[in-house]
Amino acid sequence: MVPLKFGALIFYILISFLTTSKSVNEFSYNGFRSANLSLDGIAKITPNGLLKLTNFTTLQKGHAFYPDPIIFKNSSYASAFSFSTYFVFTMVSGYENLGGQGIIFVLSPSKRFEGASPGLYFGLLNQTNNGNFSNHIFGVELDSLKNVEVQDIDDNHVGIDINGMKSVSSNTAGYWDSEDLFHNLTLNSGQPMQLWVEYDGTEKQISVTLAPLNDSKPNRTLLQISYDLSHVLKPTMFVGFSSATGPIQITSHYVLGWSFKINGMAQSLDLSRLPKLPRVGPKKISKVLTIYLPVIIVVSVSLAIWGVVCYVTRVRKFAEVLEEWERDYSPQRFKFKDLYKATKGFRDKEILGRGGFGKVYKGVMPRSKSEIAVKRVSHESRQGMKEFVAEIASMGRLRHRNLVPLLGYCRRKSELLLVYEYMPNGSLDKFIHDQPKFTLNWDQRFRVIKGVASGLLYLHEEWEQVVIHRDIKASNVLLDGEMNGRLGDFGLARLYDRGADHQTTHVVGTLGYLAPEQNRTGKATTSTDVYAFGAFLLEVACGRRPIDPKAAPNDLILVDQVFSYWNEGDIFQAVDPNLCNDYVKEEMETVLKLGLLCSHSEPKFRPSMRQVMLYLEGALAPPELSASGLKLTQHNGGCDGVPLWSYPSSTTSQTLSQNSEGRMNGMASKTVRGSLKAETLCGEVSGHVGGAEVHYLRNHTTL
Ligand SMILES: Nc1ncnc2c1ncn2[C@@H]1O[C@H](COP(=O)(O)OP(=O)(O)OP(=O)(O)O)[C@@H](O)[C@H]1O
Ligand SMILES: *[C@@H]1O[C@H](CO)[C@@H](O)[C@H](O)[C@H]1NC(C)=O
Ligand SMILES: *[C@@H]1O[C@H](CO)[C@@H](O)[C@H](O)[C@H]1NC(C)=O
Ligand SMILES: *[C@@H]1O[C@H](CO)[C@@H](O)[C@H](O)[C@H]1NC(C)=O
Ligand SMILES: *[C@@H]1O[C@H](CO)[C@@H](O)[C@H](O)[C@H]1NC(C)=O
Ligand SMILES: *[C@@H]1O[C@H](CO)[C@@H](O)[C@H](O)[C@H]1NC(C)=O
Ligand SMILES: *[C@@H]1O[C@H](CO)[C@@H](O)[C@H](O)[C@H]1NC(C)=O
Ligand SMILES: *[C@@H]1O[C@H](CO)[C@@H](O)[C@H](O)[C@H]1NC(C)=O
Ligand SMILES: *[C@@H]1O[C@H](CO)[C@@H](O)[C@H](O)[C@H]1NC(C)=O
Ligand SMILES: [Mg+2]
Repeated sequence: MVPLKFGALIFYILISFLTTSKSVNEFSYNGFRSANLSLDGIAKITPNGLLKLTNFTTLQKGHAFYPDPIIFKNSSYASAFSFSTYFVFTMVSGYENLGGQGIIFVLSPSKRFEGASPGLYFGLLNQTNNGNFSNHIFGVELDSLKNVEVQDIDDNHVGIDINGMKSVSSNTAGYWDSEDLFHNLTLNSGQPMQLWVEYDGTEKQISVTLAPLNDSKPNRTLLQISYDLSHVLKPTMFVGFSSATGPIQITSHYVLGWSFKINGMAQSLDLSRLPKLPRVGPKKISKVLTIYLPVIIVVSVSLAIWGVVCYVTRVRKFAEVLEEWERDYSPQRFKFKDLYKATKGFRDKEILGRGGFGKVYKGVMPRSKSEIAVKRVSHESRQGMKEFVAEIASMGRLRHRNLVPLLGYCRRKSELLLVYEYMPNGSLDKFIHDQPKFTLNWDQRFRVIKGVASGLLYLHEEWEQVVIHRDIKASNVLLDGEMNGRLGDFGLARLYDRGADHQTTHVVGTLGYLAPEQNRTGKATTSTDVYAFGAFLLEVACGRRPIDPKAAPNDLILVDQVFSYWNEGDIFQAVDPNLCNDYVKEEMETVLKLGLLCSHSEPKFRPSMRQVMLYLEGALAPPELSASGLKLTQHNGGCDGVPLWSYPSSTTSQTLSQNSEGRMNGMASKTVRGSLKAETLCGEVSGHVGGAEVHYLRNHTTL
């Protein structure tokens, strides 16, 4: 029997040697990237090394076991070895306060759990075999759901399970600190925690300790029971984790690191090497959804609305009218935005002056830095606009050193903006009328006169088509840097000349400069321009407005007065006293007489601009006007008793003075638009001439 006994002993030693040498009794994982765990169910290792036992799918199981069995005792009847295991886990709940089942650390004779149920059985057991001690299962559960079937104490506890899910011992999750105070921990809070499970094989004692991740192991255990595992454990067991989700509760269960050792203290986990959890947990997402997202949406929506409002007001502010036909004139077209910038938003400080058509602003172009003058003309009707724009576009090509260059235009809903070159010395009238600070001497005045004449000649005869100025007067003569006279505003009057029906003829021009026949026919011609030029000549030489409301009634009309001085034999009496008798007599005589000639009530007696130039240059002797010539025109005029010489202006102005007292002061230089009918203009009806039918353009457009 001895050899048999001996053989058996040899065999036993061999077996135990083989098994012990094959068996591992210690391992440690800080992250599972390189671990060769046996996984089943929905358990998997994430790319960064997290062991993810379950995800948010309901009623799922996940298992992860160390691949090889581990020897827990020498033989079936021997006592179990001591062991210890530490692991870090995280349970992330899909909804606040709603836990899934949980994780259970398991020692099991097998790693296959086909018939096991999810939910309260942790994917480890089922209703049939729960609690049966032929299971040979030891577990430590981390349970976040209260199941009365297995008499769970609450929905957040740690329990020691032997062969069944009804815990042998359990406690609310938490830990005791060094002052012996208990702190609750919420298992499914998404926070990583560490669990220590230790079995002392000699004392037959099981202890379980829980703590937040970074805390060291508390001195006081959470659970401690005396229990001999020798009856539970088989000689070889598998160690690992089982986890399950319930029918509604959803929680993701993660294990971050794990160490195990038979007969001794497992290696401490290197917390710094543990894999990182997915950054934005579902809980955070829900917080983001409920609090931040609405705020963000509200803020961004209001930002968007604000942006749109800003954009719309900006677009409106800079809106222009651009019609198809204007494409041809795009070179002359200015952007309103540029003009707005140039004139600093059309602020009042930039106003150079006001005229019958609107205000004139000074500006500096943003890019080229060139100085401009912008005239804002309000214009409601679009009638005639096309022709007018065509005209200004062509006038933009007018180049003469005695014309104010028209640089271009811009069109808005109810206004037209004309862009001229800026004339640093302003308009001539400021140097002549109303006790000017600086007056011009005769040389300067004569040069301006010749300049204006040559500019007008260019308009009338030298350009490719005849351009009628329609509004010659001292305020439309601007002085450039070298005190050259330059004609501005050419053709602008035409804008108001059009439109309306053909029955009433609209007369545009300025009182005192309007030729009598223009009042009758409403037609502007080169000789109506010459008439206005005549009035301008007298204005410059005499330093008085063509119609001077401040003068004595007899001297109201400048032409009449000069004519009577000339009749009396001393035309020089009319000369501007501001000149202090410092002038060239011949030139003065030419200018005065030429002024009278141009102011002839009969167009056919007026000279052409070419002749005017010849007179001014001294190539023609000053015109001689005879009283008989005057008589003749008086007859032709057909209005007896009123000297036809002065006729239209005097009657009109007298009537006007009666009708609009107090405004006379400014009136002489203001543009008048009237619908005067031919018959009412005759002297015989001087009591009500014009009357109510005379309108001031200013009243019309700027009030
Ligand atoms: N290009 C310019 N450069 C400098 N100042 C200018 C220019 N154009 C106009 N001005 C100034 O603006 C003032 C107003 O001009 P505006 O042409 O509007 O009125 P007006 O000549 O008095 O009357 P009208 O409307 O009949 O032409 C002028 O008196 C002049 O001082
Ligand atoms: C859970 O994991 C399984 C298997 O990996 C997968 O098929 C399923 O789509 C996952 N569910 C969710 C909600 O991520
Ligand atoms: C992983 O374990 C399986 C058995 O569970 C084994 O077949 C395989 O060779 C192991 N792989 C590695 C790399 O250890
Ligand atoms: C198990 O057997 C080994 C020798 O193989 C021995 O050293 C050890 O004390 C035994 N352990 C128990 C708990 O019997
Ligand atoms: C319970 O589990 C055991 C072992 O896993 C299995 O054999 C048995 O069929 C299961 N019972 C049910 C009702 O699923
Ligand atoms: C425990 O399980 C075994 C086999 O799986 C079975 O024979 C036995 O009846 C079960 N005991 C109880 C109390 O269910
Ligand atoms: C454990 O106890 C020791 C001494 O009693 C103490 O120094 C240490 O801080 C305690 N540790 C904890 C985590 O309570
Ligand atoms: C800890 O949890 C238990 C059970 O949920 C509760 O009764 C107790 O008030 C909690 N303690 C603290 C400090 O929150
Ligand atoms: C643990 O400590 C490390 C650094 O010491 C820190 O980066 C980490 O956020 C801490 N973790 C927790 C859960 O407090
Ligand atoms: Mg003007």
